[in-house]
Amino acid sequence: MKAILLKQPGGPEQLVLGEYEKPLPKPYELLVRVQATALNRADTLQRQGKYPPPKGESPLLGLEVAGEVVEAGFNCTHFQKGDKVFGLLPGGGYAEYAVIHEEMAMAIPEGLSMEAAAAIPEVFLTAFQALVWLGKLQAGERLLVHAGASGVGTAAIQLARALEAEVLVTASERKLQACLDLGAHKAINYKEVPFEDEVLAYTNSEGVDVLVDFIAGPYFKQNIECLRLDGRLVLLATMGGGKVEDFDLRRILAKRLQVMGSTLRSRTRDYQIKLTQEMSAFVLPHFQSGTIKPVVDSVFDWQEVAEAHRYMEANKNIGKIVLRVS
Ligand SMILES: NC(=O)c1ccc[n+]([C@@H]2O[C@H](COP(=O)([O-])OP(=O)(O)OC[C@H]3O[C@@H](n4cnc5c(N)ncnc54)[C@H](OP(=O)(O)O)[C@@H]3O)[C@@H](O)[C@H]2O)c1
Repeated sequence: MKAILLKQPGGPEQLVLGEYEKPLPKPYELLVRVQATALNRADTLQRQGKYPPPKGESPLLGLEVAGEVVEAGFNCTHFQKGDKVFGLLPGGGYAEYAVIHEEMAMAIPEGLSMEAAAAIPEVFLTAFQALVWLGKLQAGERLLVHAGASGVGTAAIQLARALEAEVLVTASERKLQACLDLGAHKAINYKEVPFEDEVLAYTNSEGVDVLVDFIAGPYFKQNIECLRLDGRLVLLATMGGGKVEDFDLRRILAKRLQVMGSTLRSRTRDYQIKLTQEMSAFVLPHFQSGTIKPVVDSVFDWQEVAEAHRYMEANKNIGKIVLRVS
């Protein structure tokens, strides 16, 4: 089959269209003819050799796909040949064919294109896990999401609104209006002012209940100041760096804070299946009614995969970058 291969760890130019062995579905797996996949920051790290795939999984990049079932393993009962499905993968999405455990697969809702469906799994599962399972965000509470216009950020804004929470985000200037259009109540240009000042001014010095962060090191002290009593900090990445110096841990005790970290890819399959089921039960009806939308920034042909990676690494996207697999 055709697939995007990584010649060697390095820059986007290392990604080339080539030939790779077609996967065989195990008894509980579906073989899917991939029609669209989408980029994640994790792909750019894997490309650089900094984020190896879990043991035993496909070395090909690609954490999500949308496509058509061409073969169902003999123990599969939910889907059959011809069904249109989408879902999260441990790897192997940048390919003509991919296998997915059938309980990780979701039926594509009526009216949703393959490109839109491919833009959903990773970011909505991550945001649902962060807000609902880890952050325990309640109706009427306040949420602060950094990188509000990122794939995960755009999903988190919409999910938080569906959960009836108040949403504050940080983003660069060009992306602020998009965050407001998606439902954020307050969008802060973090490059212009310390976000802590803006968050405290907007919340009458009360702060937020839940904070989802991907930047880490340089944001940590401000994050702690932005959280109110019993607040929850969910750390999902370290885009700004992983170290914090000269921090007084007594701030965490005094505010009774919970500080959590998570990576979705390292979770067990059972965990991911349960998350897929809960997320889809909550979110798919919103996709059908149009109250939540997959946010597709751009669609690249998969032959332009290097260009798509450069685009993401230049922080140009608002929402997801999709690859059309032809
Ligand atoms: N732990 C998990 O389970 C998990 C799962 C999925 C994703 N993630 C992580 O979540 C993050 C978002 O992923 P994504 O695919 O949605 O990303 P994305 O769409 O590529 O967006 C990332 C955005 O973050 C902002 N940014 C980048 N570097 C920054 C820095 N040093 N300081 C402040 N802002 C910065 C940029 O927006 P601005 O222009 O606004 O600065 C950039 O466009 C990534 O770090 C990814 O690795 C974690």
